[in-house]
Amino acid sequence: MSHATGNFDPMATAREGTYWQPFTASRRLSANPAPRTMVGAEGAYYKTIEGKRLFDTLSGLWCTPLGHAHPLIAEAVKTQVETLDFAPSFQLTHPGALQLAQRITSMAPDGMNHVFFANSGSEAVDTALKVALGYHRTRAEGNRFRMIGRERGYHGVGFGGMSVGGIVSNRKMFAAGMIPGVDHLRHPYVPEQMAFSRGQPAWGADLADDLERLVALHDASTIAAVIVEPVQGSTGVLVPPVGYLQRLREICTRHGILLIFDEVITGFGRMGAAFGAQRFGVTPDMICFAKAVTNGIVPMGGVIVTDAIYNTFMTGPENAIEFCHGYTYSGHPLAAAVGNVVLDVMEREDLFAQVRALEPVLEESIHTLSDLPVVADIRNIGLTAAIDLKPAEGKPGARGLAVFEAGLQQGQLLRCTADTISFGPPFISTAQELRDMVATVRNLISAVA
Ligand SMILES: Cc1ncc(COP(=O)(O)O)c(C=O)c1O
Repeated sequence: MSHATGNFDPMATAREGTYWQPFTASRRLSANPAPRTMVGAEGAYYKTIEGKRLFDTLSGLWCTPLGHAHPLIAEAVKTQVETLDFAPSFQLTHPGALQLAQRITSMAPDGMNHVFFANSGSEAVDTALKVALGYHRTRAEGNRFRMIGRERGYHGVGFGGMSVGGIVSNRKMFAAGMIPGVDHLRHPYVPEQMAFSRGQPAWGADLADDLERLVALHDASTIAAVIVEPVQGSTGVLVPPVGYLQRLREICTRHGILLIFDEVITGFGRMGAAFGAQRFGVTPDMICFAKAVTNGIVPMGGVIVTDAIYNTFMTGPENAIEFCHGYTYSGHPLAAAVGNVVLDVMEREDLFAQVRALEPVLEESIHTLSDLPVVADIRNIGLTAAIDLKPAEGKPGARGLAVFEAGLQQGQLLRCTADTISFGPPFISTAQELRDMVATVRNLISAVA
């Protein structure tokens, strides 16, 4: 140990790798931790330990659309800790979680009137998969056990979410731990047909027919659920072609397969509507959410289910537990209090309308980068966008990393995965901030090309 208690040196600890960080190139971070060490955040900006101010181009990890250090949220946290800091949610309840459940269901599509709370997107996904199994079993269709995910999908890191996920690097190390009976739809990204689309690509609804292929292979009677992100976020904002989600819905309905929308990124306004379900006009059987519901301040996730699903579980002896599942921190009072105030702020400040107003600004400005020779594609929808860079010869990912690290010096906290830069700025961003962000990104890309 190079430091005793009372003489704490965060940079020395970061260099030693004591904190083994998630989804991080640990040795790269340890080699030069200072530019990546955040010590403060306010509004749409972070502050690093070196005193640099960084524009938060991804709202944290897609989770802080209201920006940082919101006074109403700070006040709600304090009040809740002083009033009811914890309450078990097994066999007990409290007004904060009840109110949040009521508000979330009132924002959800018609007929989705029940919420199960978890603490993260990963837990929300695993909960939804278990609901699907329990639903079919309760209806005496327990032979429906298969889950269908999608190539390039991201559904968190639990064993269920990992298995239905389709990002190869997240799967290959853990291949032995995949849950059985999972298959994947092809991803709906065909650059030859849809590169540089603005919003939803016009071509590609038929790609959803891939589900019919899997139904023909496995038989519908063995398939419990299909899970997709309406917009595939983590892999780099893959936007569903016009009509694609409708087609998936039709096929699921025809075969009695539950459709789960994983709206951990698209939920709570990112698409300019409460959920992607409304933006795309498709009602699934379950919606997974997390992230923005608490503005990322207290971890929370959950699943919204239809009346049909909830009512199916409500059978058997009246004193029996119908769904043997849950987390110590499900519906945590602090998370619920923050969720309630976040929804207040979203409503009072009409932030979904703000997203709709900013969407064309982001679209216009980001597509101006299409003249850069190193840019392979640009996509956008709602307040999200992504730029694919052509990989450097023999060095995939090197350009993305270089842009990320240069961004830290140029006032932009960028999200680069391999050679893709993803954007999901705070809803409170100004139009000028978005244009400035794109102008800086132009310089950064030009410098590394
Ligand atoms: C669509 C989707 N599902 C699930 C998750 C996992 O959420 P968490 O990291 O909170 O477990 C994420 C995280 O980015 C996500 O984007």
